[in-house]
Amino acid sequence: MFGTPGRRAVEERLDGLRDELDVDFCVVNGENVADGVGITPRLAERLLAAGADAITLGNHTWRRREIVEWLPGADRVARPANLSRYAPGRGLIVAEARGGEPVAVVSLMGSLFLENARGPFELVDELVDDASASAQVIVVDFHAEATSEKIAMARYLDGRVTAVLGTHTHVQTSDARVQPGGTAAITDAGMTGPHDSVIGVRAELAISRMRTGVPIRFQPADGDVRIEGVLVECDPSTGRATACEAVRVPVP
Ligand SMILES: [Fe+2]
Repeated sequence: MFGTPGRRAVEERLDGLRDELDVDFCVVNGENVADGVGITPRLAERLLAAGADAITLGNHTWRRREIVEWLPGADRVARPANLSRYAPGRGLIVAEARGGEPVAVVSLMGSLFLENARGPFELVDELVDDASASAQVIVVDFHAEATSEKIAMARYLDGRVTAVLGTHTHVQTSDARVQPGGTAAITDAGMTGPHDSVIGVRAELAISRMRTGVPIRFQPADGDVRIEGVLVECDPSTGRATACEAVRVPVP
């Protein structure tokens, strides 16, 4: 989700949407909530209060300094597991679904065009083993730039986790599916935020920077706000997915 428009949409609509779609557990990627880059403890708490059960982060995890001290105590917020092994916080969290079932949430970042300390494929097996020790249902947020890397990760984890959901590129892809082994996947879950924009940013500012190369402070746009995401159905006793569908809801 992106900026104040995205947060407002979540605060206004998430509760109702959870009822309409009969959602037991909701994961929000929150790394762009603070004016488009980063997250603060206060905003994270607002997202959790608005109905998110877990928050994942990404390449903008450290953009707001106040997160550094707060993250180790935030048991429903996961930052990418493949940051430095000495980074505060954790890449795997476990939270309860509506019925009390544990759900493991893994945050992992891709290696193409993104800076991380370790390659995602290097540590994903260990993460999945750790997650399996606490939960049947395992959701992996793979925060990555390249479609190839996201599809490869989804294939690699097929049969071992409930879902591999791509984030970071902010454009919902049309490949929501359940793979043969029972792992749901989508290359990008889309953006909850202003779509009359360049991936959330006011278009004229993004275009100006691209045309001139002159750095400029980006501001979130505010038009055509939508809630986008993906709805995964699964068997909680096995953790295998049975359906996977992209969700796109205009927010007037
Ligand atoms: Fe990102």
